[in-house]
Amino acid sequence: MDKLLEVKDLKVSFHTYAGEVQSVRGVEFYINKGESLAIVGESGCGKSVTAKTIMGLINSSGEIKKNSEILYKGKNILDYTEKEWQNYRGSDCSIVFQDALAALNPTMNIGNQIIEKIIAHKKISKEEAKEEAIELLKLVGILNADKRIKQYPHEFSGGMRQRVMIAIAIACNPKILIADEPTTALDVTIQADIIELIKDLQEKFNMSLIIITHDLGIVADVAKKIVVMYAGKVVESGTNYDIFYNPKHPYTKALLEAVPRLDLDDKRELCAIDGTIPSMINTPIGCSFSSRCKNCMVICENQAPPKFEFNQNHYVECWLYHPILQESNKEDDM
Ligand SMILES: Nc1ncnc2c1ncn2[C@@H]1O[C@H](COP(=O)(O)OP(=O)(O)O)[C@@H](O)[C@H]1O
Ligand SMILES: [Mg+2]
Repeated sequence: MDKLLEVKDLKVSFHTYAGEVQSVRGVEFYINKGESLAIVGESGCGKSVTAKTIMGLINSSGEIKKNSEILYKGKNILDYTEKEWQNYRGSDCSIVFQDALAALNPTMNIGNQIIEKIIAHKKISKEEAKEEAIELLKLVGILNADKRIKQYPHEFSGGMRQRVMIAIAIACNPKILIADEPTTALDVTIQADIIELIKDLQEKFNMSLIIITHDLGIVADVAKKIVVMYAGKVVESGTNYDIFYNPKHPYTKALLEAVPRLDLDDKRELCAIDGTIPSMINTPIGCSFSSRCKNCMVICENQAPPKFEFNQNHYVECWLYHPILQESNKEDDM
């Protein structure tokens, strides 16, 4: 299958008074047409910076390092002109952010916000765009769409506002939808509805979906592939089966332990992972997770681990899977 979007050796830094913040340090993944992929990791791991780079939204304070590539249909979008970015944003790739209230214009009714988006990309009249806007609102589950179209963002609940954001994001039939923590700001009770909506729309329109979250629990049924990020790097990547049933990286295992389990009735403390992510200015020379890792060895603190592959889709960056160690473990078992 053809890769629709491929991120290759993506490195993004911000230059601040305190020094160079290395937010993204060599991220790689790809997504096929119609496929869904999740990027998972704690806050501060570089997930949003990765998403913003794919959308061309890194402003001048950010530096995308040379040799970074983001191939869309085989062409490096990092070489796009401003005009090409404008065409790409919305009709090829669209994003839904966590905070719909901040993303919407408070002084314009939502109908006009959707119409504006449609007209920017399609050559149709305002009347036709209005019809489309009403259809879109119905599609994302907003009742009385023909009346609600005249309302302003503050007149909607958090969940409904996120539905409006999703309507705007899919208004121009993007091939790729990025949802960056789409439910984090919402009440737990409606999180599942929004995830369900995103999943339904993705299937209905055969879009590729990149869903970003700090909570592995919400992507189990949604994403076919999972990319686990830690401190600006991909530490493990695999199918959802690989990640949920055969996790390899100690960080992935810790993230899984942090997912609330409905099948356990004892009120066990949720296992939040001890410690915090390292400074992204003075990044560790060894494995970034070594300071928090239960399995940390001497080499982990001194040398960054290479990539070890388990199958074509499943790989991990962790010294535990060095062949020599694997051999000696086998001997120990004998
Ligand atoms: N505009 C910016 N200027 C400086 N540092 C930034 C900027 N944007 C993000 N960062 C830093 O980059 C790192 C990754 O951020 P982000 O991608 O937002 O994390 P995540 O989405 O995984 O929570 C963080 O350390 C954050 O502080
Ligand atoms: Mg983020």
